Amino acid sequence: MTKKIGLDHVHAIAPYVGGRPISEVAREFGLDESAIVKLASNENPLGMPTSAKEAMLRAANDLGRYPDSNGFELKRVLSKRLGVPEDWITLGNGSNDILELTARAVAHAGDAVVFSKHAFAVYPLATQAIGAKAVEVAADASYGHDLPAMLQTIRSLGETAKLVFVANPNNPTGSYLQPKAIEAFISEMPAHVVVVLDEAYNEYLSPEQRYDAIAWVKKYPNLVVSRSFSKAYGLAGLRIGYGIAQPHLTDLLNRIRQPFNVNSLAQAAAIAALGDEAFLQQGYELNRAGYQQLTQAFEQMGLTYLPSSGNFVLVKVGDDDEAGARVNRELLKRGVIVRPVGNYGLPQWLRISIGLPEENTICIQALGAILSKPQGTA
Ligand SMILES: Cc1ncc(COP(=O)(O)O)c(C=O)c1O
Repeated sequence: MTKKIGLDHVHAIAPYVGGRPISEVAREFGLDESAIVKLASNENPLGMPTSAKEAMLRAANDLGRYPDSNGFELKRVLSKRLGVPEDWITLGNGSNDILELTARAVAHAGDAVVFSKHAFAVYPLATQAIGAKAVEVAADASYGHDLPAMLQTIRSLGETAKLVFVANPNNPTGSYLQPKAIEAFISEMPAHVVVVLDEAYNEYLSPEQRYDAIAWVKKYPNLVVSRSFSKAYGLAGLRIGYGIAQPHLTDLLNRIRQPFNVNSLAQAAAIAALGDEAFLQQGYELNRAGYQQLTQAFEQMGLTYLPSSGNFVLVKVGDDDEAGARVNRELLKRGVIVRPVGNYGLPQWLRISIGLPEENTICIQALGAILSKPQGTA
């Protein structure tokens, strides 16, 4: 018999399940790829900005060389934009990288990492990968983070608590935390606990919801704010994001990242996307309109949904714990890919990313057709 290899805490990890690729669904259900609508990964329905594509194509001439390991040019642009020095910025292979780097830099086996129930799936993954203990805190009545309860849990953990993840807005619930509540939470955090404020969907916040997280980074030495180019900037496939933190923390993340963690095409595209205000605005407006379209349809169908501040909506498609999986399968048969969220403790719900108007319409019609049949026979 062969001896078991691999660490126990790695064996214990439930692998991340992403949105199903179009090609895979086409093969499985015998569908034409062009007829499939994918609203499963909170991607930008506009695709990547043309400005970024052009910048990427220019950068392609230099692909024989390694990327700039320090991301000099991109950090310069970000530094100007954010009003922090370059040495407060860490570039990541997606903002996912920033989440993992922070976990690796501040916690190890035996430590505790805290996050909310129904929070982003990478928090437990990043925690378990380093052998730390994932401490999940019950959500509030509207499925959002219960920050006072999280703080209380952290206090009760004492010195073992090293890190807490807070997503605003959160995925998959779309829940939004009031800035006052976030700052109170950070200000009361024990000094040895690092707070990651995950702002992957920040650009989708309405003007009334916006707040100045960078001012908090300047004020609190234990705060990392992470942001993404995958969503509003339309660069999910290139894998690029960044973290903002004071230099002592940024230095730790930079010590342990891969020297070339962000490729040169991604760096070039990100610089172009940052300068493309028109693309960002177009995406924002499309998202607002799509949110109205989807939620009005849910209301007409009598479906419960959670108010979302991101580019996706969580909708309840039945009362039994098979409902999400069952309706998801029926949607797949009709060429509509959304995200079942049973792994988030939400088996009665589906997360639908906001798409182009015609994509939303296809999804609404398919959902209507499925739910108009008696449940269980769909
Ligand atoms: C809340 C949240 N944070 C972070 C990420 C990671 O995004 P990326 O690594 O593409 O920047 C996602 C992706 O879905 C997310 O939903």
